[in-house]
Amino acid sequence: RREYNIVVLGAGGVGKSCLTAQFVQNVWIESYDPTIEDSYRKVVDVDGKSTVLEILDTAGTEQFTSMRGFLLVYSITSLSSFNELAPIRDAILRIKEVDEVPMVICGNKSDLEGDRQVSKNRANHISKKWGNVPLYESSAKKRLHVDDAFMNLTRQMIRM
Ligand code: GTP
Ligand code: MG
Repeated sequence: RREYNIVVLGAGGVGKSCLTAQFVQNVWIESYDPTIEDSYRKVVDVDGKSTVLEILDTAGTEQFTSMRGFLLVYSITSLSSFNELAPIRDAILRIKEVDEVPMVICGNKSDLEGDRQVSKNRANHISKKWGNVPLYESSAKKRLHVDDAFMNLTRQMIRM
């Protein structure tokens, strides 16, 4: 069975742990407990092939040199969390010394439309600028596009 490593990065409080918990355990966590670092394993089926994902849920941006796939999370309700993604991506590309790595962008908290600070257009622009990095507006709360985001990333890792 092949194994792939994923790291979930982004500003504090954007929903990295909640997205991970929904994907791995199908649970919604309302309370906010800032992460130090947690890792999870999940076995997924990709086109009939059983595949092991090792997911590292971080507090931000640290220690990702050995990681293969990157889930970059911001909150649609926080412009500053969106602006934090570019430096995170720069750091990844600098450390990996490549132009392209398996990557997905998640604009999380899409259920909070009334508090939106980051337009879909603005996010699309970044996705295009970065070479069409897949972009999902997810909601960990409503479990929207959670599997899509993780599985798209998994397929990219398998391809590369
Ligand atoms: P750090 O571990 O501190 O970096 O934060 P994090 O990115 O892991 O955030 P976490 O998943 O702990 O979520 C922070 C808060 O946002 C919690 O109170 C969650 O319940 C809430 N939250 C997370 N995702 C969503 C979402 O999709 N919608 C809504 N409405 N709230 C969310
Ligand atoms: Mg967390």
